Amino acid sequence: MTGKFITLEGMDGAGKSTHIGNIIEMLESRGHEVISTREPGGTPLGEQLREVILHEKMHAETETLLMFAARREHIACVIAPALARGAYVLSDRFTDATYAYQCGAKGVSASKIELLEQWVQADLQPDITLLFDVPVEVSIQRLSTARAPDKFERENAEFFTRIRHAYLQRAIENPVRFRIIDADNPLEIVKKSVEDIILTI
Ligand code: TYD
Repeated sequence: MTGKFITLEGMDGAGKSTHIGNIIEMLESRGHEVISTREPGGTPLGEQLREVILHEKMHAETETLLMFAARREHIACVIAPALARGAYVLSDRFTDATYAYQCGAKGVSASKIELLEQWVQADLQPDITLLFDVPVEVSIQRLSTARAPDKFERENAEFFTRIRHAYLQRAIENPVRFRIIDADNPLEIVKKSVEDIILTI
C-alpha cells in the first residue's frame, strides 16, 4: 500500500498556509489518514535546524546542506513510513523550495542540489505539487502586513523575482506533477481552485 505525497510551494506571502486546513479536511472526509508537516522542520531535530536556518546568517551552501540534513530526517522518520502505510502526506514546502531559494535566488549550483536530492531522496518525489503563484508586489505587500519577518522575508524584490521565476521554471520542467494556482485572486476563488485540484487526486 502506498499513499500520496502532496507538497505546497510558493513565495513567502503567496498564501499557501491558509489552505492547509481545508485540504486536510477534504482528504480526511474521503477516509484518508493525513499527515500534515512542513520543511524545514517536520521532526524534532528538523524543527531545531529550522530555527538555525531561518535566523542565523550562513553561506548559501551551508544552508542547502542543512535543508537536506533536515529533509533526510523528515523522510526517514515521517514521510516514508506514512506513505508506506498508505497515508497522505501534505508538506508545506519540500525540495522545489531548495531549487527556488538556494539555487534560483542565492546561486547554489543546480548540479550540487541534484546530487543531494539523489542521495537524500533516491526516487522519492511528490505526486502532486501545488504552486501558489502571485506577482512579487503582492507577496511583498502581504508580508509587510504579516508578523515579524524571518531572514528570508526581509529580502528585496529582486530576490523574490528570482524565486518566482525559479518556481515557474520548475513547473515547466515537471508539468505532470505541478499545478499552478493563481493566488492573486480573492480568497474564495483560490480556495475553489485548490478544491478542484484536490478532488482530482
Ligand atoms: P515558510 O513555509 O514560508 O514558513 P512560514 O510561512 O511559517 O514563515 O518557510 C520558511 C522559509 O524557508 C521560507 O522563506 C523559504 C525557506 N526555505 C528555503 O529557503 N529552502 C528550502 O528548501 C525550504 C524547505 C524552505
